[in-house]
Amino acid sequence: MKNIMITGGAGFIGSHIAVELLDKNFEVVIYDNLSNASVESLKRVEKITGKKLKFYEADVLDGEKLREVLKNEKIDLVIHCAALKAVGESVKKPLEYYHNNLTGTLSLLSAMKDTNVKNIVFSSSATVYGDPKSCPITEDFPKGECTNPYGWSKSMMEQIMTDLYVSDNEWKIILLRYFNPIGAHKSGLIGEDPKGIPNNLIPYITGVAIGKFPYLNVFGDDYDTEDGTGVRDYIHVVDLAKGHVKAIEEIDKLEGVEIFNLATGRGYSVLEVVKAFEKASGKKIAYKIEKRRDGDIAKCFASAKKAEKVLGWVCENGLDEMCEDSWRWQKNNPNGYEGE
Ligand code: UFG
Repeated sequence: MKNIMITGGAGFIGSHIAVELLDKNFEVVIYDNLSNASVESLKRVEKITGKKLKFYEADVLDGEKLREVLKNEKIDLVIHCAALKAVGESVKKPLEYYHNNLTGTLSLLSAMKDTNVKNIVFSSSATVYGDPKSCPITEDFPKGECTNPYGWSKSMMEQIMTDLYVSDNEWKIILLRYFNPIGAHKSGLIGEDPKGIPNNLIPYITGVAIGKFPYLNVFGDDYDTEDGTGVRDYIHVVDLAKGHVKAIEEIDKLEGVEIFNLATGRGYSVLEVVKAFEKASGKKIAYKIEKRRDGDIAKCFASAKKAEKVLGWVCENGLDEMCEDSWRWQKNNPNGYEGE
């Protein structure tokens, strides 16, 4: 495995994966339509690593373009991150979400099949577990009922890849189920840059810290958790990115479709995250308790033992580092990549 293509590679997670791959001397090709990403992130990836990558501004729905790039760049493996990902928006625009995420994946897999590129690492999500019967969640937990089209699209994409393997055992497929990726590269040059009002906890908190929002809405304090607020397994995006490198390094040894949780194995409540962020930033984060958000579950954290055992991957960063790095990125780039 030498030449790696990342669909959606200009986004938050893709750009961090690109850095880790370039650091390990892989050749990196980014395939991104920039619908929710900026080319500036790629310039910064090159600045961080001192290495060059190739970039194609194109859509995964464009099968012809995919075939051309896979062939001309002699791609060995694809990391498939390209997808629409806003949970709330997916409820309002289900057809767009299913079309983009499912048709896009079918288009990619067909192009890969036609060009004989049969190695894929898929950007999946903890959302496929639905509301788990207990925590920590292990990979053999059954998939659950998703609460929104975004979640279902991830679950269905996993199923499509699983069926593809059944039809042709030459495929090597790794499904990485991300828990809650936060943090940013230590350089402060790349990070999460959501458009509009953020849906996720950390971008909202950093927005409060720089004065963009007056306070954080805490969605519910009456869950069955220690302090009543929702518990999640937050993972540093650089650790998550390194998990992809390990997956690529080990893929030849694996058989069939392999699933890994990428998580720390530790859950933190919303209020614990607020406290850790205040410590990291020295800023007071005002908050108000709001009613529960539709579709949220009380508690979700994982066991990451399988990834440790099989891939030799462990997280190096704790919650304090995640908050410090999220804050450095936000402080240095109050408007994200905008204006560059
Ligand atoms: N929360 C708040 N206020 C906010 C935002 C979030 O209190 O303004 C709370 C939520 O209620 C939840 C926790 O913070 O308890 C984390 O919420 P996020 O929106 O950051 O993350 P989720 O766990 O809801 O969602 C994430 C990913 C989804 C994925 C899902 C399940 O963003 O893509 O995990 O794996 F589907």
